[in-house]
Amino acid sequence: LWSGRFTAGITQDVLDYTHTTDVDERLVGYDIWGCLAHNIMLREQGIVQDEHARSIIGALLDLADDESRGTLKLDREHEDVHLNLESMVITRVGADAGGRMHTARSRNDQVMTATRLYLRDAIVEIAGELALFIQQLCERAEHEVAVIIPGYTHSQPAQPISLGFWLSAHASALLRDLRRLRDSYVVVDESPLGACALAGTSFPINRDSTRSYLGFATCLQHALDATSARDYLQQVVSALAILATNLTRLAEEIVVWSSHEYALLAVEDSFATGSSIMPQKKNPVVAELARARAGRVFGNLMQLLVITKGVALGYSCDLQEDKPMTWNSLDSIYSTIRLMRLQMAGIQVDAQRGVDLCYENFSTATDLTNYLVTAHELPFRTSHRVVGEIVSALTKQGFCLREADIVRRLLAERDIDASEAEIAHAVSPQRAVDRNTSVGGTSSDSVSATLQAILSANEALSQWFGSREAEVKAARQRTFKVARDFVGREPSVKDGVQA
Ligand code: ARG
Repeated sequence: LWSGRFTAGITQDVLDYTHTTDVDERLVGYDIWGCLAHNIMLREQGIVQDEHARSIIGALLDLADDESRGTLKLDREHEDVHLNLESMVITRVGADAGGRMHTARSRNDQVMTATRLYLRDAIVEIAGELALFIQQLCERAEHEVAVIIPGYTHSQPAQPISLGFWLSAHASALLRDLRRLRDSYVVVDESPLGACALAGTSFPINRDSTRSYLGFATCLQHALDATSARDYLQQVVSALAILATNLTRLAEEIVVWSSHEYALLAVEDSFATGSSIMPQKKNPVVAELARARAGRVFGNLMQLLVITKGVALGYSCDLQEDKPMTWNSLDSIYSTIRLMRLQMAGIQVDAQRGVDLCYENFSTATDLTNYLVTAHELPFRTSHRVVGEIVSALTKQGFCLREADIVRRLLAERDIDASEAEIAHAVSPQRAVDRNTSVGGTSSDSVSATLQAILSANEALSQWFGSREAEVKAARQRTFKVARDFVGREPSVKDGVQA
């Protein structure tokens, strides 16, 4: 299509090296939508006459039908999705009409338009999965406030927490990821169409019209910036990289806590694999891979930053390398959230083991300390030392805080007169958890309040995504309706949906 000034075509090697048709597969439906919006506008503005516009738009609608039937195949000879579509239109309606569809446009604004259209849907899909996962974690947390497990700092036993408290901590972190997805959506949701190659155009285009057909919230006004910017992709992939990091922390806990040594939880058999040689093995491979997949997303982010770095403004072919790693990040994160969510539904926790560990690992030493401060009026620092000595003595003798009689004797040796019942009360892991009634603390009331806050924020964000999704769908339907009305065709149920 651009052969005018060339005397020879590119070699097969060059074509293999430069084409993007494989990567562009997922842009086809979006690029057709973008072409429709652009050509409806060209006609509205009188830039392309009705007769030609009718041919172009008719051909584009045929291509949309082919696409939804899965019969539209890109040919690598035509380099990318944009040149493929243009040559398909020209093949169908001839060059006199078809040759006008690219008026007042460039592949530089066209590709950013299709990419942004696709990304919006991809983000909504991931956000939907994430919101479901957050909701699932919260719902499970609500029912698990009485299941006690040790909480750790420095990977060492610290204080008892409930399973609900732990699950809601992950939900609380993932909620920020959902917000970051919303923020990155806002940056994506700007129309670059009409920026043309880099400088805008002398044709009397209407950028707000195409913006509206494509359901973009705003126009990205500056033509040179609109065609050069890749920071919005970096923002999306950064949000995904941070999300991946948060998921790995949950995955790590699942891996470690399901070991024989912790024996706190078990993943369902259907989320684990065995060993070809060791018959006893049950490997938590989904959690392991969720931990590892983050590596891909970090690598993708780094590639995206590096390929953009130092590229002077205005399109350079470097920038066409922006898509493979973006697609890969979206795919990796979507499947990781989904698998982590499905896995979490079947994770079994050994409640007795949790309590036993809390006794054996001295998780309630802080509670004994606080008890001496409140009931015996010891200064906190003195109480801390006394309990430290008791922990040391018990450890040497092979006992733990469950042996209230021995603890009573050790306290009595230090002139502190506490009954066994008082001590047992103080060091009970369940009571310890319920005592922390501060905002955001472990008590079941505190956890309930925290969960309410997370759930309502999750709900609000889901609604935000839902209403954007509905607006985008309506914009797409409107584009297709205007196009079909113009060429006198019946509407299709596929008009509002992406293939
Ligand atoms: N396939 C290209 C990309 O993905 C489209 C833009 C090409 N523009 C150009 N002037 N070569 O970035």
